[in-house]
Amino acid sequence: MAERSARSVAFVALKTWRQKKDFADQIISRLLAESNLDSADRAFAVELFYGVLRNLTLLDSAIKTLRPHRVDADVRDLLRLGIYQLLITNTPDHAALNETVGLGSKRLRPIVNAILRSAARQRSELRIELESEPPEIRFSHPGFLIDRWRKQFGDNNAIKLCEWNNQPPPIYARINRLKIDRETFLDRYRNAQPVPKISNFVEGLPPNEPLSRGDCYVQDPSTAVACEMLNPQPGEKILDACAAPGGKTSYLAELMQNKGQIVACDRDPARLRLLEGNLARLDVRIAKVVRHDWIKSEAPDQITSSAPFDRILVDAPCSNTGVMRRRVDVRWRLKPAEFARMQARQLQILDSVLPLLKQDGVLVYSTCSLESEENEDVVQALVRDIPVLIEEDQKKCLPFADNFDGAFAVRFRKTQ
Ligand SMILES: C[S@@+](CC[C@H](N)C(=O)[O-])C[C@H]1O[C@@H](n2cnc3c(N)ncnc32)[C@H](O)[C@@H]1O
Repeated sequence: MAERSARSVAFVALKTWRQKKDFADQIISRLLAESNLDSADRAFAVELFYGVLRNLTLLDSAIKTLRPHRVDADVRDLLRLGIYQLLITNTPDHAALNETVGLGSKRLRPIVNAILRSAARQRSELRIELESEPPEIRFSHPGFLIDRWRKQFGDNNAIKLCEWNNQPPPIYARINRLKIDRETFLDRYRNAQPVPKISNFVEGLPPNEPLSRGDCYVQDPSTAVACEMLNPQPGEKILDACAAPGGKTSYLAELMQNKGQIVACDRDPARLRLLEGNLARLDVRIAKVVRHDWIKSEAPDQITSSAPFDRILVDAPCSNTGVMRRRVDVRWRLKPAEFARMQARQLQILDSVLPLLKQDGVLVYSTCSLESEENEDVVQALVRDIPVLIEEDQKKCLPFADNFDGAFAVRFRKTQ
């Protein structure tokens, strides 16, 4: 295979995303794994691909201004890529123009070249025009999402949330104290900056070494809340019902000092393989990994033989609206009916795990959604339908207020 440039990887990624509707992170990971790009070019390919997806409606609006007629799909992908570089990044014009045009087939090059050159010429006017577009175009978010956030959080916060989702996020990592203590970690990895007030998280790490050694795990500080709320103790039996790829399982094991047992379940075989790899690398020795779908069948012996559990974590599948700055294609996949559909799944999973919790045991339910259907409404339905559950604590992390990813966690105690 001919070697691909960063722009070419981004172009193929955009085309694959448009045609196959695969997840954006899976598409780009696959293409980067097949490429020989160095780390700077890999980062540039990701920036271009994710940057276009974050600004899709805005870029399409610019394309419409420049070329009101119908545009061929491949031409559109090239124009999205080129105009993103010209209007949103600081890429020098000659590189943005020549290299993007060069990605097209001979037949497409003249039209792409002509439109990108007029984009470069009219850049200031285009920027002014785009600034006056309504938020769904300016921030490239579906109108129904902006409307529901306006209702939930108010106009200003809805806009702040859109802006937050359009910024490339910092990469945070949790120091894995099963392998290394904080002082040694900070001494060994001098680039790592401690996150203020969250002593076991850092940002600004060098790329691979600490991760491959299992000295840390990449996750947002907001993910720690559910684990800390569960508060597992050394020696206890814990069920992590939706565990893959294991960010929370490994933190639970750390909080338990690798003493006791965690039964870590998930329904997805590929994600379970990631979970197993992560647990091995992070030196988690107390987890039993079980494949199980809580909605499709009764819990197998591998799980029931460890019941009743002292504590259960349900880190539920959700719409992911709290992590949209990382999962850049979520906004283009979500449909308004998704929130009610997710709530039904979440309640089914909760219903299946509850009989496995001991009397006086603790249940934590968490999501990375901002939506009340998947958070407060689930809590309300549980409290209404299952009187033995007493709510003890609840936390919601909102990006525009807390400066981390969105997350929700609630703790119940089962009284009988
Ligand atoms: C939010 S993710 C879990 C993330 C994980 N707790 C972590 O911290 O890395 C939700 C997980 O639930 C799993 N899942 C979805 N529906 C399920 C079901 N019916 N039964 C079991 N697992 C399910 C998904 O495969 C996914 O891995």
